[in-house]
Amino acid sequence: WPRTATKDDGVLSVGGVPLPELVREHGSPAYVLDEADFRARASAFRDAFASYDVYYAGKAFLCTTVVRWLAEEGLSLDVCSGGELAVAERAGFPMERVGFHGNNKTVAELERAVGLGVGRVIVDSFHEIERLAELTRPLVEEGSRGPARGPVGVMVRVTAGVEAHTHEYIATAHEDQKFGFSIASGDALEAVRRVHAAPGLELLGLHSHIGSQIFDTSGFEVAARRVLALHATVREAIGVEMPEIDLGGGFGIAYTTQDDPSEPAQLASEVTSIVEHECRALGITVPRLSIEPGRAIVGPAMCTVYEVGTVKEVALDGGVVRTYVSVDGGMSDNIRTALYDADYSATIASRPSGAEPALSRVVGKHCEAGDIVVKDEFLPGDVRPGDLVAVPGTGAYCRSMASNYNHALRPPVIGVRDGKTYTVLRRETEADLFATDVGVS
Ligand code: LLP
Repeated sequence: WPRTATKDDGVLSVGGVPLPELVREHGSPAYVLDEADFRARASAFRDAFASYDVYYAGKAFLCTTVVRWLAEEGLSLDVCSGGELAVAERAGFPMERVGFHGNNKTVAELERAVGLGVGRVIVDSFHEIERLAELTRPLVEEGSRGPARGPVGVMVRVTAGVEAHTHEYIATAHEDQKFGFSIASGDALEAVRRVHAAPGLELLGLHSHIGSQIFDTSGFEVAARRVLALHATVREAIGVEMPEIDLGGGFGIAYTTQDDPSEPAQLASEVTSIVEHECRALGITVPRLSIEPGRAIVGPAMCTVYEVGTVKEVALDGGVVRTYVSVDGGMSDNIRTALYDADYSATIASRPSGAEPALSRVVGKHCEAGDIVVKDEFLPGDVRPGDLVAVPGTGAYCRSMASNYNHALRPPVIGVRDGKTYTVLRRETEADLFATDVGVS
């Protein structure tokens, strides 16, 4: 739950705002964003990793409001598409604090990023290095295009060959997936050589991201060891001391009471001691470090509030009954349960209940049986239409992966702070849907 969440006589409040009041004002369903919690998590990472650069991973959730908070809290920003870059630009974020990711950036995206002066491009293929080398050459050549601007900072995304213990679709450091240059095959060293040889590119260092929703630092340890070994090899083989290493994001959060995530301070001390230990063993100086947490900053800072529409009891084998609680959203505002078999929890947010808990499943209103928000939860046995249900931990990858499936209107993101609400993203309207449907004007 967001850290300002309180429950009083069965009514859940976030940021001092009772959710029934929020729904009366802004409608349902709605994502509720606790500004104080977001800022506290962002600044906790900044302070715990004080000697690092902390890049917030915008893919988790991005909008101009959040970008302004990040600027104020002194974080940097990781974007991975032209669209995310556009949000950063629109919010006036300092471009030298932006890192631009992606395995297939278009030439137009690269041109835009270079034109805006992003601090670093994280390159992910030989084709991309070639394109970027080409389009940055004029920046270091005095000539008709005006004064030289200097080279563009580049990190080389490497694959450390680690099996991260998380869902297959969100693990990214094993060899057989699309991201990065393999360290084992020698591609990573070759990529470093090519970046170093390009006059328009400034080789900043290596980048490794092993996956997402990871609790165990042993994956980071293996990755850090392999990345630092390559860092040392580059020094010997090419004679270049790269200034930086980025260890990516992926720090896990609690979706249910089963999960036990570490605090930023503990993560920082573990990661730092792993890196320092390896550097000592390799006899190299500790490079500047950066990380890219997304989920761990925004995930817990939001919850989703829904209204119950229908309730149905279904008999399972062995006399067990499962109560299907249908809410006014679903897989269009949270695809993670269907896509990753993710676990969530839920609570009634609008009233007290003394009823016996009943095995319940919170489902959406989409035309699909897999449209499940919360697989298993014990909700009060008297849950009924009109009740509000709140689901915590929906800040990361819910709004950012939301869709208009079945022509659903994506819910608003409502900020809460000190007993007040404000709209961060407004609810979509039918006019938004029809804006792209030009068949009948
Ligand atoms: N850096 C890079 C290079 C990444 O690819 C990612 C996530 C992050 C940082 C941030 O990871 P985080 O700290 O948020 O775990 N849609 C999936 C997650 C995909 C993550 C993709 N990359 C989900 O809903 O779990």
